[in-house]
Amino acid sequence: MIGTSRPMIKACLNSFISAHRHVKKPAISSLRYATTDEGSKSSRTSRLPNGPSLEHFIANSSKTTNSATSQTHDPIDKIPYIQKSALHGHGKKVYFDVYGCQMNVNDTEIAWSILDSNGYQRTTDTTEADVILIMTCSIREGAEQKIWNRLNQLRVLKRKKSVSTKGSPLKIGILGCMAERLKSKIVEREKMVDLVCGPDAYRDLPRMLADTSSGQASVNVLLSLDETYADIMPVRLNADSCSAFVSIMRGCDNMCSYCIVPFTRGRERSRPIDSIVEEVKILSDKGIKEVTLLGQNVNSYRDTSESQYAGGFESDSATHLSAGFKTIYKPKFGGRRFSNLLDKVSQVDPEMRIRFTSPHPKDFPDEVLQLIQERSNICNQIHLPAQSGNNEVLMAMRRGYTVEAYMDLVYHIRDIIPDVALSSDFIAGFCGETEKAHLETVNLMRQVKYSFVYCFPYSMRGKTHAYHRLTDDVPEAEKARRHMELSSVFREEVLKLNQAQIGQQQLVLVEGKSKRSVHDLAGRNDGNKKVIFTNTEVPCEISSKELKPVTPGDYVVVQIVRATSQVLHGVPLYHTTLQDFSKRQTTSQRYCNASTI
Ligand code: SAH
Ligand code: SF4
Ligand code: F3S
Repeated sequence: MIGTSRPMIKACLNSFISAHRHVKKPAISSLRYATTDEGSKSSRTSRLPNGPSLEHFIANSSKTTNSATSQTHDPIDKIPYIQKSALHGHGKKVYFDVYGCQMNVNDTEIAWSILDSNGYQRTTDTTEADVILIMTCSIREGAEQKIWNRLNQLRVLKRKKSVSTKGSPLKIGILGCMAERLKSKIVEREKMVDLVCGPDAYRDLPRMLADTSSGQASVNVLLSLDETYADIMPVRLNADSCSAFVSIMRGCDNMCSYCIVPFTRGRERSRPIDSIVEEVKILSDKGIKEVTLLGQNVNSYRDTSESQYAGGFESDSATHLSAGFKTIYKPKFGGRRFSNLLDKVSQVDPEMRIRFTSPHPKDFPDEVLQLIQERSNICNQIHLPAQSGNNEVLMAMRRGYTVEAYMDLVYHIRDIIPDVALSSDFIAGFCGETEKAHLETVNLMRQVKYSFVYCFPYSMRGKTHAYHRLTDDVPEAEKARRHMELSSVFREEVLKLNQAQIGQQQLVLVEGKSKRSVHDLAGRNDGNKKVIFTNTEVPCEISSKELKPVTPGDYVVVQIVRATSQVLHGVPLYHTTLQDFSKRQTTSQRYCNASTI
C-alpha cells in the first residue's frame, strides 16, 4: 500500500549476474575491487601489525560475540592460520536475499564485489546455491520476523541439499543489521545458520566462509570507526537499471530514542569526497543517468580524510545546523561538508540526476538548499523525516526540534526551492502519544502536503533509550488505527497535489516497461513521482520531424493528463536532454515573469 511502508526490498538478484563480468577494474588507484592481494595495499588509517594480536583472534574466532567500536582492516591473505587457497570460492555459487533499506542494497553490492573478486559466482536459483546470504534489517520487530520466517523455509532446503550432495551442505549466512543486533544469539536460536556478519565486516566474508568448512559457525560483528568501503567498487545488482546507489557515509550519531540504527550501524563516518566522485565518474561512463547518494544521515556528511580539512575549533568551521535544531552530540568541527560533496558530484555529468537519502532535517544549511535550487541536475526533492507533529512526542523521541522549527524549515525550503517535492517518515503510536498528539501529526501532514510519506506503527527495540526509559503504552490496535488514519490523510492530500500537476509538461527519466500495461512505459519526474505514459515513438527533439522509440535511460518530456494518489499518467511529447529542458524552463519562466510585469 502506498505510503504505509518503506519498500522492503527482497531483491532476487536475477538477470544481473552476467553484468559484473563486464565491469572493468577502474584505472584509478584509490578505487578498486577488493581482492585479497589488493586488500593488502589498502590505505587505511588503522592497521594490524604483521603478527596476530589478541583482537585479531577475537575478531576471527568462531562462535564469538564481538562488538568492538574499532576494527582494523587486515589483508585477509595475511591471516596466519588460513591458506590463501581456502579463501578462494573456486566457483561456489552464492545467492543473495536482500531486505531493508537502500543501504542494504548497496551493501549487498559491496559484499558481492568482495566475493566476486575471490572466485565466487552468483546464482539466482536457491536450489543450485552453495551459499545463501541474507542481508537483514532490524528497524522493527516485523522486519526481523520476516527473516526468521525465511530461515524456516531455508531449513528445509538445507536438509534436502545435505542429503542430495552427501557432505557439501548448503551454507547459510546472516548479514547486516540483524546480524549486528543479535550477534551469536542468531546461531543459538537457529542452529543451521553458518555465518553471522555485521555491516562493517564484509571484507572478512571470504575468511568467514572458509571458516565454516570446519562445521563451526563463524561470527564477526565488529563495528568500525573508519570503515566506509571507500576502495571497493560495488558490483551492481541490477545492471539493467539506469540508476545506481552510491554510499557516502555510514552510521548515525543521533540516537533518536526509538531507533536501533546507531546500535546496528555504529558511529557516523564519511567516505572521502574523491573516492565518491571517482565512483560517480565510472557510473557516468557506463551510461548511468541517476545516482542516489546514500547514508543513514546523508546530509551530516563530513569528510575529514585530508588534513587541511580535518578542522580546528574555529566557530566558522562548526557544523551549521538548520535554525531551531539541536543535536544530542557536541558540535563537530571541520571537514568537507555535504554542500562541498553535492557541488563536486553534480559537476561530474550535467546529464546525470543526483538524489540523496536519508537526510535529517537538522542539516539543511542554505548552501545545500541554494545548490539544489541552482543545479538543474540535483533533483528538487527533499526527504524531511518529521516523525511526529507534536512537541512532547518529538521531545520524547529526542529529535532535537519542535514542530514550529520544522515548519519554519519547510517554509524556508519552499522559499528557496519553490517547486520542491517534500517527503517524510512518521511513527504512529510512539510511547506516550495521546489522541491529541496524533491529531497534531495529522494536522502537520495536511499543512505540509507531502509528495510521499512512509508511516510505521511504533515497534519497541531493545537497547534504545525508549526501551530503557519509556513505556510502550499505546495499544497495538490503536497504533494500527492511527497508522491507517495517517495513511489515508496522506493519500487524500497527495491526490490533490498530483491532480494539480495535470496539464504540466514534465521531464521524465524513463525506467522501463510499466508493470501494469504492456503498452505503457514508466519513469520518474524530478520530484521522484512515478509517471506512466504510452509507449510510442516521439520526435528526437522538440521541433524535429524525425521520430525515435523511447527506451530506458532516455529523458522525455511528458504532458501530464491524469493523476491518482500514487502515479501521474501522461502523453510523451519529445526526446530531450536534462540541460535543454532546464534551459527551456528558465527561458519560459523569464518570459512569463516579463509578461506579467
Ligand atoms: N536515518 C533516517 C531513517 C532511518 S530509519 C532518518 O532519520 O530519517 C527509517 C525510518 O524508520 C525512520 O525515519 C522512522 O520513521 C522509522 N523507524 C525507526 N525506528 C522505528 C521503530 N522503532 N518503530 C517504528 N518505526 C521506526
Ligand atoms: Fe535512527 Fe534517528 Fe539516526 Fe535516523 S537519525 S537513523 S531515525 S537514530
Ligand atoms: Fe534496517 Fe539497518 Fe536499514 S535496521 S532500515 S537495514 S540501516
